[in-house]
Formats: sequence, structure tokens, C-alpha cells
Amino acid sequence: MSTARIECRSVTKRLPSGSQVLTILDRIDLAIEPGEFVAILGPSGSGKSTLLGLLAGLDRPTEGEIYVDGERIDTQDEDRLALLRRRKVGFVFQSFQLLGNLTALENVLLPLELARVEHARERANELLGAVGLAARSHHYPSQLSGGEQQRVALARAFAPRPAILFADEPTGNLDLATGGRVLELLIELRARERTTLVLVTHDLEVARLADRRVHLRAGRIERIESNTAVASP
Ligand SMILES: Nc1ncnc2c1ncn2[C@@H]1O[C@H](COP(=O)(O)OP(=O)(O)O)[C@@H](O)[C@H]1O
Ligand SMILES: [Mg+2]
Repeated sequence: MSTARIECRSVTKRLPSGSQVLTILDRIDLAIEPGEFVAILGPSGSGKSTLLGLLAGLDRPTEGEIYVDGERIDTQDEDRLALLRRRKVGFVFQSFQLLGNLTALENVLLPLELARVEHARERANELLGAVGLAARSHHYPSQLSGGEQQRVALARAFAPRPAILFADEPTGNLDLATGGRVLELLIELRARERTTLVLVTHDLEVARLADRRVHLRAGRIERIESNTAVASP
């Protein structure tokens, strides 16, 4: 299994908005250690999704530097970034993002086949079992409930054994009880697979389980709480 230490150094993200320039993230310093579970908290619009996109190599900062295992990534070309994401990174989004013309099993298999993982079918079936959907593996997303679709998305994200998994409000489209079960599964799988997890959530009970809680406000780190002591950013 690969690991990944991700570090942001004074990362700023600005975007043009009409005649103005908005500062979406302002001089963020943050390192995610291998094996850590970090929760990102903050009001809507505080920059949580933007920060996740930068950490995951989906987006580039306006200023500052981002390193993965000591290798600077924000200046790399798109091909190299795509390779890095495929090797190290998994995602779970609010909107599931399953492919509608593929069955649950085929959705989980796809990243394994792209990465040429051996015993892909066994791994995919194992993960579908772990999220309680062994009996639904030949169903299409449209035949599954929202909670079931997100469980397929969890299986798909963990299947290639990413070093780090990013989840952006993965229960934002689910009711409270269903969302709670999905978060429980996410935490269980993360512990079992020993995956580093960066989770954006409004669920304080789940955030309390995290090694650290990073509070964002208006594009800045307001404070970081760790489960041992309160640290400054
Ligand atoms: N592509 C974009 N163009 C203009 N503004 C954007 C864009 N993406 C995000 N923003 C703005 O940046 C701020 C932070 O967005 P986001 O990272 O999505 O926040 P959060 O995930 O915390 O709700 C918001 O004010 C949002 O409107
Ligand atoms: Mg968001």
C-alpha cells in the first residue's frame, strides 16, 4: 500500500468575479499525515471544497506550494497530476457520481481495471459485500436508493486501495439516518483499509472521531482542534 503526506504552504486561491477578484482561500498552511483522519468544518462558502480540490491535485493554487511526499505538485503538468491522482487518491462526492449505464459491480470494477489491479473482480465483490450490497451488485444506479448509491461509491473509492481518500459532504444528499449509516461505513472501511481520510462534514459527532478538526472561515483556517490538544494552524 502506498502512503501520502500532503502539505500546503501558504496556499492562496483567487478567482475572478466580474470586475473583482475574490480570495477563496487565504494563505493556508496545513499538512495531512499518513494514516490521519482530518475533518474539515466550516460554514457554506468558507472554502472547504476548494481546499479539498487543491489537496487532491484537481485544482491549482494562485499562490503557495503543494507537496505530496515531498514532491511539489502544483507546478506539474496535467498528465502527471492525473497519474498521481490515479495512484494515490480516492474521492467520494455529495452527488455519488456513479456511471448510470454500468451496474454497481461494473462501477466498482472500473477504477480497478484502469489501474490494472490483479483479482479485480474478487476485490470489487469483497468491497460490495463490505458495504452490504452483495445482493445488489448487478443492479444499475437508477435501481438503487440514494444511500445504496453512496455505498457503491464508497466501495468504488476504497477498491483501488488509495493512500488518501477525500470525501466532500458525502451525506449531503441523504436523510439523517441513511447519512449516519454511510458515515459509519466510511469510518469502518477507513480503519480496516488504513486509509488517510480528509472528510468535509457538518456531522459534529463524526468530526469528533477525527484526529484533527480544521475549522475554516472565509477562506482562512480559524482554528485546528486535535483530539489531544488545541493546536494553532
Ligand atoms: N468556480 C468558481 N467561481 C467563482 N466563485 C467560486 C467558484 N468556486 C467557488 N467559488 C466561491 O468560493 C467560495 C468558497 O467555495 P467552496 O470552496 O465551494 O465553499 P464550501 O465548500 O465551504 O461551501 C464561495 O464563496 C464560492 O461561491
Ligand atoms: Mg462545498
